[in-house]
Amino acid sequence: MISSLEGKRALITGAAAGLGKATAELFIAQGASVVVTDVDGAGAEALASALGEKAVAVTHDVTVAAEWETAVAAARDAFGGLDVLVNNAGIEIGKPITETGQDEFERLMKINVTGPFLGIKAAVPALVESGGGSIVNMASVAGLGGAPLLGAYCASKGAVVRLTEVAAIELRAAGIRVNAVCPAFIGTAMVDRLVKPFEAAVGLPFGDVVKIKQGRLGTSEEVAEMVAFLASDDAEWTTGAAHVLDGGLVEGLL
Ligand SMILES: NC(=O)c1ccc[n+]([C@@H]2O[C@H](COP(=O)([O-])OP(=O)(O)OC[C@H]3O[C@@H](n4cnc5c(N)ncnc54)[C@H](O)[C@@H]3O)[C@@H](O)[C@H]2O)c1
Repeated sequence: MISSLEGKRALITGAAAGLGKATAELFIAQGASVVVTDVDGAGAEALASALGEKAVAVTHDVTVAAEWETAVAAARDAFGGLDVLVNNAGIEIGKPITETGQDEFERLMKINVTGPFLGIKAAVPALVESGGGSIVNMASVAGLGGAPLLGAYCASKGAVVRLTEVAAIELRAAGIRVNAVCPAFIGTAMVDRLVKPFEAAVGLPFGDVVKIKQGRLGTSEEVAEMVAFLASDDAEWTTGAAHVLDGGLVEGLL
């Protein structure tokens, strides 16, 4: 089955780098039009101009409700509506809970949880206008279990999984599907930042941990393929689920 996003109009947050960028590139390759948004406005602009006329950029902090309105309006203005929201923007903290400041914890929760919450609220009216649609929330295997140094991050991604389930039920009658994607370690700048603290915490080279737990690092393109499938009509009956991409990490005992 080859999924296609021909004619779909999407909004992807945190799209200037990593998974969001790879997702925007694949969406364009599959025929979608994409509003690429990021708090890094220059990065979003650079990506949109590289992607061509079917992409527009918006400088957008996902924690600010008014900026969500602007981002959704950009999809209406540029493409006439919205069919897909990808709540991808997120940050990490790689510290023990006892060393994590309240301000750091709350900032992370605001970006990783309040961001998707505001995104759902802002996008739903536009998705309803389009007769339905798909919301894909970027969670993580960290939303399904614990890992050292990732207290705030695991708490936030667990919340994203639960938010996804409730949104799926509440929005089913409106023809809006809501799914979460749960990747293990993927080769992006976020993981580069976690390598040193993680090695210090577990006492093993990061590469060894990755090899033992998930076989290898995942790629941004592999995550983008999952997001594209969930955004497409091929995933018509899939909603409320946490789609795991982890080389067996979650299920493996060793
Ligand atoms: N890389 C991984 O291994 C991995 C695994 C599982 C889940 N994830 C999740 O995937 C998503 C993307 O991760 P990534 O690895 O590409 O990270 P990244 O750090 O490479 O990119 C994140 C992007 O989000 C943007 N961003 C940060 N704060 C923002 C805000 N307040 N508003 C809008 N944009 C903001 C950044 O500017 C950046 O462009 C995150 O939600 C992350 O938690 C990543």
